[in-house]
Amino acid sequence: MKIIIDTTENVAKRAAQLYVDLLSRNPQAVLGGATGSTPIPLYKELVKLNKEGVISFKDAKSFNLDEYVGLEGTHDQSYRYFMNDNLFNHIDIKMENTHVPSGIDISEPEKYDSEIEAAGGIDMQLLGIGVDGHIGFNEPGTPWDSLTHVVELEQNTREVNARFFNSIDEVPTHAVTMGIKTVMNARSIILIATGSSKAEIVKKFIEGPVTTEVPASILQLHPFVTVFLDHEAAALLEKKA
Ligand code: GLP
Repeated sequence: MKIIIDTTENVAKRAAQLYVDLLSRNPQAVLGGATGSTPIPLYKELVKLNKEGVISFKDAKSFNLDEYVGLEGTHDQSYRYFMNDNLFNHIDIKMENTHVPSGIDISEPEKYDSEIEAAGGIDMQLLGIGVDGHIGFNEPGTPWDSLTHVVELEQNTREVNARFFNSIDEVPTHAVTMGIKTVMNARSIILIATGSSKAEIVKKFIEGPVTTEVPASILQLHPFVTVFLDHEAAALLEKKA
């Protein structure tokens, strides 16, 4: 794992540079998208670079990590809505080339893996991390060989995400998420973690054992992972290489 520690602002800029590099090498790249508060500064940077003509998404494709079960894409807390609102509506990507798992038709979730494969596989998957180490919505205990599947959300995850809803009762109980194997199949991975609330889990997933109890720890075994941390999220690391 390559670990980059910088200010919160520079983390977004430096992560955006990886998109510039990838899309100039391969304009048809397949991008893996993530939601949450963490990627918002990166998405703002990508919108800016797109408007300035530095980067183009017109031939790119994207596949998002996850979606809440039961929310239509038009619901303002659905991850489809989030992606349109924070990124897709403001860049030159073709909407038909953007994919978010359906939270409504959950009959055959693993079909999403076949769609990714048919598109040639993900070139660069973006990840945030939950305070319990989840990536996508792969909660502790998720098997390493999991493909896209439906999960029951941990109470703690629902509580953390309740800030976006009117009350905890409105937070869906289930989500559909790429599995750990789906994520590990990506040719390269970027994980961003910012803020002091992530410091403990950052230390665990980077310096602790590889264990299903910390889903992000599996990234230690992927050959091309870049972890971007701000100083607050990196505070507990022993080796600040
Ligand atoms: C959600 C998402 C994850 C995300 C995590 C952290 O649970 N499913 O993909 O990484 O939250 O969110 P935040 O970036 O807001 O801390």
